[in-house]
Amino acid sequence: MIKTSFLIIGAGVAGLTFAVKMAEKFPNKRIIIVTKGNEDESNTKYAQGGVAVVLDNEADSFNQHIQDTLVAGDGLCDPLVVEMVVKEGPKRLMELINWGANFDLNAKGNFDLGKEGGHSVYRVVHHKDITGFEIEKTLLLRVHQLSNISLMSHHFALELITEHHLKIKETKVLSCYGAYVLNQKTGNIITIKSENTILATGGIGTVYGHTTNPSIATGDGIAMAYRAKAKIEDMEFVQFHPTALYNAEGGTSFLISEAVRGFGAYLKNKSGQRFMLDYDARGELASRDIVSQSIDSELKKSGDSHVFLDCTHLDSKAFKKHFPNIYKHCLENHIDIIKDWIPVVPAAHYLCGGIVVDKHGKTSINNLFACGECTKTGLHGANRLASNSLLEALVYAHNIFKYVSVNTPKANDFLIPVWNDKGTHIPKEHILITHNLSQLQALMRDYVGIVRSNNRLTKAKDRLEFIYREIEDLYKKSTITPSLCELRNMINVAHLIICQSIERKYNKGGFYKIDN
Ligand code: FAD
Ligand code: SIN
Repeated sequence: MIKTSFLIIGAGVAGLTFAVKMAEKFPNKRIIIVTKGNEDESNTKYAQGGVAVVLDNEADSFNQHIQDTLVAGDGLCDPLVVEMVVKEGPKRLMELINWGANFDLNAKGNFDLGKEGGHSVYRVVHHKDITGFEIEKTLLLRVHQLSNISLMSHHFALELITEHHLKIKETKVLSCYGAYVLNQKTGNIITIKSENTILATGGIGTVYGHTTNPSIATGDGIAMAYRAKAKIEDMEFVQFHPTALYNAEGGTSFLISEAVRGFGAYLKNKSGQRFMLDYDARGELASRDIVSQSIDSELKKSGDSHVFLDCTHLDSKAFKKHFPNIYKHCLENHIDIIKDWIPVVPAAHYLCGGIVVDKHGKTSINNLFACGECTKTGLHGANRLASNSLLEALVYAHNIFKYVSVNTPKANDFLIPVWNDKGTHIPKEHILITHNLSQLQALMRDYVGIVRSNNRLTKAKDRLEFIYREIEDLYKKSTITPSLCELRNMINVAHLIICQSIERKYNKGGFYKIDN
């Protein structure tokens, strides 16, 4: 068993920011970060557009950023949370800069601000079109400079430890005592006993298969918290990004940043008609729920598989300077954005709901905190405003840091049993996992996509039940593997999305059900 003061599960912007802050302030406390892939693999690494933040800029104000966030959230944001996050933003961004992150400047030496859907002004701070890569790199560099942080890559968190695992009576409010973690290189399952556990496990895009997210985005933290009986809400609000590069084979799709539309690109259908103005007066810069639903409607009308993003009228030199990665990626795929239209289609991108946390990042389980994309804070409501996610992660990592700096949990000497794997065997056939994964992803795409219906959702629920039983049975008999655990977690996440979609009786933001 390993004992620690802080166990952080996840090494994206949320987990790393919290770790750096704690380690700097408390050099004698031991901090462990576990992450299931290479140390930098995360949604954070792929973030393109940037961080929405109000800087010393006459054209912008806190109030305007608050209003834009509330409008995008379609009445379901918590206004106090929105105000807190927007006002904290500049301080949190400056910390990141002090740790070494670079953001683009204009000719006058001010931040070069980008614009994205739903923003009324230019306010997105960015590092070219690879903002997330810059943030992840900076934070990892700082983590490696701090000797009281142990970063354990290729360690997969399996379950949170609560009273349920201890031989003590379950109380009304449960507490978390750490987690069971699989060392993916040795196959050993370690017990990590921790005074505080922080879930920073990111998103769920892989549940849909067609997604802008990397394959690590399997909702593990949400599923673990759900099984531990934490409160989970707003799972029906899956955000589909309007412009993923069309990929006929499905799977992970490269993102064409919304900042490209902010830069002036047009959305067109096959016949070259700019259709967004038929749906919203803001045209291509309507919030992304509206743009995705409009594209979905165009595709249903035409029967086409994708629409196009036209950049051919834009200043090509300036485009290449701002979006070098997008330009290069398109070129590698035989699309020269200077003369060709980019084929695009909506893809699962972000989860607005998740583990419910208060303003300190506390979940409904004692000593269990959460921050980043795996949470529901109240900032996003029914639809996240572009580039508000990195911002939210930075602010909540700070809030948890502030809270735990002064609130130490009571020490306990509970004995935690080792992971029980008696009677399990290495599964002989991997096909059960791969087959059920593709079934699950097809089910989510076809029955739980941008436009939903009670009929399709009920069918999805019944079919999922079948997959659930087969995989639970396999899980009980098998030696643990990451792919089996990820599938089990994705089934839990899919169940939550489907059930909460059935329960939602009126349409809001990114949620649209034809029966409502
Ligand atoms: P992540 O960065 O996803 O990190 C999750 C971590 O948890 C990873 O290290 C993962 O390995 C680990 N993990 C997960 N499960 C386990 C487990 N069982 N055991 C151990 N470790 C585990 N947002 C913006 O604000 N601006 C943008 O410009 C922007 N662009 C985006 C572009 C793309 C292509 C994508 C996919 C997202 C974008 N987003 C953007 C969203 C934003 O990047 C994410 O919401 C944010 O980075 C999430 O950070 P996080 O720390 O919560 O999670
Ligand atoms: C993008 O660059 O379009 C993604 C921005 C975001 O998801 O916030």
